[in-house]
Amino acid sequence: MTSALGDGLRLLRAFATNPRQVGAVLPTSRTAVRAMLDLADVPSARLVVELGAGTGVATRELLARLGPDARLVAVEIDPQLARLLTERLRDPRLQVVVGSAEDLGDHLDGERADVVVSMLPFTSLEAGLRGRLLDQLPRALTPAGTALVIQYSPLVLGELRRRFAGVRIRVTPWNVPPAFLYACTGPGG
Ligand SMILES: C[S@@+](CC[C@H](N)C(=O)[O-])C[C@H]1O[C@@H](n2cnc3c(N)ncnc32)[C@H](O)[C@@H]1O
Repeated sequence: MTSALGDGLRLLRAFATNPRQVGAVLPTSRTAVRAMLDLADVPSARLVVELGAGTGVATRELLARLGPDARLVAVEIDPQLARLLTERLRDPRLQVVVGSAEDLGDHLDGERADVVVSMLPFTSLEAGLRGRLLDQLPRALTPAGTALVIQYSPLVLGELRRRFAGVRIRVTPWNVPPAFLYACTGPGG
């Protein structure tokens, strides 16, 4: 099943198994993903990292925008969703990592990304884990890089401001629920 309905059911199943880890019962809309990716220069990126790739709605759009020699590392903790991504999106630029974004430094083997895209459900995660995952964002970026974060509430804004010098915010109504989009740049104080 490769339809939007099939993806909805897969995410729902993952949510039923582990609600706090998945944090959403519906896939993110393509319109919201496009609005988020418009906030960074994805076509010029050499290395892009996606955290919590889920059913791959952002992964697909990233591959459509990336240059021919660029790379995309997509990290997904749920083995079934990761397998779906691997089987479905066969592209030599894509590497799917089954594991936690908490271990991003190991997954990247010391490399730094020009753009990090987070689909992680920060607000539903336990506070300690949320902090450790948020810490990965500035660490994984080049000094001129951008971290893009999508959330369904503004609660994470303060935590992003503590970690980055600049945080731009957009809200898109074209998602259920409406989504907050953050573009974060520069090391924080
Ligand atoms: C809100 S869902 C994103 C779904 C995606 N936007 C979509 O539409 O399919 C969050 C995703 O983050 C993944 N996730 C949660 N914690 C993670 C972690 N520590 N490392 C990697 N992925 C994680 C979940 O398994 C889930 O696929």
